[in-house]
Amino acid sequence: MNAEALQSLKTWFQNYVHSCSLSVQEDQRNITIKQEHTHQVCLNTVRIAEELRLDQRETRLAETIALFHDVGRFSQYQQYKTFDDSISVNHAVLGAKLLVEHNVLQDLPKHDQEIIVRAVTLHNIFSLPKGLDEKSLLFAKLIRDADKLDILRVVIEYFEQDEGDRAEAVALGLPDLPGYSQAVLACLVRGELARKDALTTLNDFKLLQLTWLYDLNFKCSLRMVEERDYIRTLAEMLPRNKEIAGAVEIVRNYVSGRLKIC
Ligand SMILES: [Fe+2]
Repeated sequence: MNAEALQSLKTWFQNYVHSCSLSVQEDQRNITIKQEHTHQVCLNTVRIAEELRLDQRETRLAETIALFHDVGRFSQYQQYKTFDDSISVNHAVLGAKLLVEHNVLQDLPKHDQEIIVRAVTLHNIFSLPKGLDEKSLLFAKLIRDADKLDILRVVIEYFEQDEGDRAEAVALGLPDLPGYSQAVLACLVRGELARKDALTTLNDFKLLQLTWLYDLNFKCSLRMVEERDYIRTLAEMLPRNKEIAGAVEIVRNYVSGRLKIC
């Protein structure tokens, strides 16, 4: 893929997002959040691709995946006014379908088209299926890291805002109660990814974000977590007690441990 092809895909995306504009201010805010998220995921992707020493063509392919990974979010929100897939539609599958139905990728080599559609489809799956070819696996891992890194930013910014100013769709409508689920905390302690359907409160949502660090594939992604101070920032937003502090320490040690291994 050359630079012009990527540029014309970016133009298509901008026009598409513009066509999804909504008249209610709160709705449009949710659309803008996803637009900015896409931009940041593109930046994360290029950085990871550079650190992995991908060539220019592969980097453009990775950036195209980043550009389109959440393309389904816009029509999901238009139709259902939520980002919660469990009560609406799988936005990754919807996005992949949209790319095919609108022939968005038609000028790209067939093999690139397949990798993009596959990576978009798999970007939000709990765990990647076995048997993916080497290239599909690389690009799927890359978008999953770039995406998680930016969702951490979005979630932190959400909690840094005053309650009345928050875009509620970000936190899936979970109640802001002082408690948290032992099942979600146990995942953080065991080094496992928590499932979204286990969430009961906003604190669980914060704990879930921390469990995502166990699912990051590349060392440079973990380095970005450290650079951006995501663990400390999220930990400060959680209830202060011994069991939370202990669980946070486990994930902190996990990240620094992986960064020490050459
Ligand atoms: Fe997504």
